[in-house]
Amino acid sequence: HSLQPYNTFGIEANADFFCRVTAGGQLAEALRFARESGLSPFVLGGGSNILLLGDLPYLVMKMELKGIQVIQEDADQVRLRVGAGVVWHDLVAFAVSQGWGGLENLSLIPGSVGAAPIQNIGAYGVEIKDVFYALEAVRVEDGQTRIFSRDECRFGYRDSIFKQEEKNKWVISSVDFNLSKAGIVHIDYGDVRKVLAEMGAGQPGIADVSRAIIQIRRSKLPDPAETGNAGSFFKNPEIPATVFETLKSKFPAVPGYPQAGDMVKVPAGWLIETAGWKGYREGRVGVHDRQALVLVNLGGAGGGEVKALASKIQASVEERFGIRLQPEVNYIGGGLS
Ligand code: EPU
Repeated sequence: HSLQPYNTFGIEANADFFCRVTAGGQLAEALRFARESGLSPFVLGGGSNILLLGDLPYLVMKMELKGIQVIQEDADQVRLRVGAGVVWHDLVAFAVSQGWGGLENLSLIPGSVGAAPIQNIGAYGVEIKDVFYALEAVRVEDGQTRIFSRDECRFGYRDSIFKQEEKNKWVISSVDFNLSKAGIVHIDYGDVRKVLAEMGAGQPGIADVSRAIIQIRRSKLPDPAETGNAGSFFKNPEIPATVFETLKSKFPAVPGYPQAGDMVKVPAGWLIETAGWKGYREGRVGVHDRQALVLVNLGGAGGGEVKALASKIQASVEERFGIRLQPEVNYIGGGLS
């Protein structure tokens, strides 16, 4: 079964087994089938954060559990329960249309609701952990259902327990969010305030913030419908403040954002651009010309070609700056997963 339509990099690869999960019962059933057949299940959400390196000898389960439900509401707040298969931006657009705040900075992020907590998606100063309440997941091993609270998810920068000790052990079926009716906006990141001013939004509301973010993203990030990509290919590295000072003495222009624990986050996009890769093209792959953190499939590339370019960039950045970039996308198949 071809997976090309189901990964935003647009890479051609096949799954040995494929099914769609559109109802809760099907999830347990598919997991049982996988167990009984000795197959590893692989859950596919929006396919927007994976690089397929080959055919998958798995049972690929396309998560399509839908539904947005209000489960609690008072004058200040609303709690939503959202099916894992809901398209992330559809949720954001719905919340914004209702005047419920908290998700607007995460407008237009590709992918599904169920995948979002796994890497604690974030953009423009907000992460999903800021609005997350709890999630429901089904254990691959035995089909048992469990609730994970916010603390139990152990969210970090592009990280959660589902990328660490619980990796590949759970299928997320729904996520609960606490959204605010107070109209609070977060506009301190990068150009957000400037773009809002250009739009003439003096006292911006959440719908204005959403529109501004959509505009910024469209201007920087390639549309996967036109050019295959998976957003940021690498994570922004965090280095000790002392190491950052040494780096800064050699490269005075290097940007750095102080983090907890005396760490500094350095934009990988700056490192890659400064190492000369922005806009680079080689065969069917390249580096986006408006955001160096995004690798692109120029048409018909295989996962191995993207991986080879990523490896060259890692080596080049490491040689120049002494920093090893870590992929943010997940390499799947080709003997790795
Ligand atoms: N920069 C460059 N050259 C580039 C790109 C970035 O010099 O080509 C430097 C600039 O100094 C810029 C800074 O990096 O001011 C930050 O750039 P930007 O605001 O575009 O954000 P980013 O750090 O490159 C992160 C996320 C994005 C998210 C944006 C906005 C990661 C790995 N990426 O990118 O997330 O949209 O911030 O919040 O943290 C994704 O995860 O797929 C993703 C797109």
